[in-house]
Amino acid sequence: MASSRKPVIRHSAFHFPIPLRFSRMRRAIYPGSFDPVTNGHLDVIERARKLFDEVVVAVAHNDEKQPLFSLEQRLDLLRETVGQIDNVRIAEFSGLLVEFARDQAAGAVIRGLRAVSDFEFEFQMALMNRNLNAAVETIFLMPKEEYTYLSSRIVKEIARLGGNVSTFVPGCVAKALSGKFSQ
Ligand code: PNS
Repeated sequence: MASSRKPVIRHSAFHFPIPLRFSRMRRAIYPGSFDPVTNGHLDVIERARKLFDEVVVAVAHNDEKQPLFSLEQRLDLLRETVGQIDNVRIAEFSGLLVEFARDQAAGAVIRGLRAVSDFEFEFQMALMNRNLNAAVETIFLMPKEEYTYLSSRIVKEIARLGGNVSTFVPGCVAKALSGKFSQ
């Protein structure tokens, strides 16, 4: 039976970049570790896809961060939650975000901004990315108030300590977390 899954675009030396001059599409990259994806991320994806023709949810390899979920697991959880949405594509990337944005002919990077505490790091990253490639604009989107205190880190901690995370993450993520911590 043919799979209904959309293919994941891999960013590698053999990947063919999409030249910006040939693309009339307004495309944005939503990068992150997504370790794992939370309802806060989904809220940002939903807002971003209304503003752009295509949103590329880009999972960073981030090997140095020692994620709980492997790259494949993080991609699978995203495929399961947003993989079927028309103008949302899931990809992975390593190396500089601005290089990936250029290869994808994306003019914008989306980041979620939850609270003032996020601001300093996000500000630094946005300005550094602008310095590296002024053609890529960073756009901040605020998730619903109820998600402002939500983060992948806190969700993992609650799950590790046996708490219920089902209102913070999609069902498949809650299941994957309980699988991780019941081992
Ligand atoms: O979900 P996160 O962990 O906050 O995402 C951070 C991420 C992956 C967006 C950031 O670390 C990143 O862009 N990494 C790619 C490497 C890069 O371009 N670094 C320079 C940014 S100033």
